Amino acid sequence: MARITASVYTSHVPAIGAALDLGKTGEPYWQPVFKGYEPSRQWMKDNRPDVIFLVYNDHATAFSLEMIPTFAIGCAAEFQPADEGWGPRPVPKVIGHPDLAAHIAQSVIQDDFDLTIVNKMDVDHGLTVPLSLLCGQQSPVDGAWPCPVIPFAVNVVQYPVPSGRRCFNLGRAIRKAIESYDEPLNVHIWGTGGMSHQLQGARAGLINREWDNAWLDQLIHDPEAAAATPHIDYVREAGSEGIELVMWLIARGAMADVAGGPKPTLRHRFYHVPASNTAVGHVILENNV
Ligand code: DHB
Ligand code: FE
Repeated sequence: MARITASVYTSHVPAIGAALDLGKTGEPYWQPVFKGYEPSRQWMKDNRPDVIFLVYNDHATAFSLEMIPTFAIGCAAEFQPADEGWGPRPVPKVIGHPDLAAHIAQSVIQDDFDLTIVNKMDVDHGLTVPLSLLCGQQSPVDGAWPCPVIPFAVNVVQYPVPSGRRCFNLGRAIRKAIESYDEPLNVHIWGTGGMSHQLQGARAGLINREWDNAWLDQLIHDPEAAAATPHIDYVREAGSEGIELVMWLIARGAMADVAGGPKPTLRHRFYHVPASNTAVGHVILENNV
């Protein structure tokens, strides 16, 4: 049986990827951001998963605005870093896990969640920046990410977007799917995006530290309450792109306590402003089963 041993939550700011790729992590602006991820990189080394199920959003990169799936599961054997306008990031390709991805698709779709099956897709900063933050920079030539990754893309770009409640319940279904996979894999589930940010319009640059931190408290200690946050609250309080936070609820819904198991252990919590236009939030929770 495969098991979800931990969940990881992190913002996925593109400028963080650029800072890593251009060797700027030691600059005073960036230092505090990367310092917040130092314990996480050590934790990744000590708690290396066999597979990462990585929830992120595509930013009109692989899916143009012509066709936008609400939930899309990457079932390919590999995924190339996307060209988002400045050439692809110099990071390794992402190796998938087609067998586990197909199993999850089968189980979750039979559980009444409509997923789009994706057999070819490039992955943008939403996926590669969290990998760089937690796994460190890897050479695109002879480097590799530490394990296979199943990309799971959520539409938070084009309205209407899925509710936090639906994402949370989808997390439960993903847990059930992973636990019915007949191989003893150690799986991490990651939720990425957020925290408060708005990239356009009159409120561009909006950051709401107080709301972000109250939401983090709920995510950790009372996830049902976090899942009940109405969509409009994210937009009002955390800005138009703050809605990316619903993706964290997929990872949280897959944790053991949501299924009646023991509470997770909080391994790490970090919050920092600013990073580009975004408040950076980061949490690691370990399951105790
Ligand atoms: C920024 C943040 C994002 O999450 C994103 O997807 C794009 C841009 C930003 O801070 O600029
Ligand atoms: Fe984003």
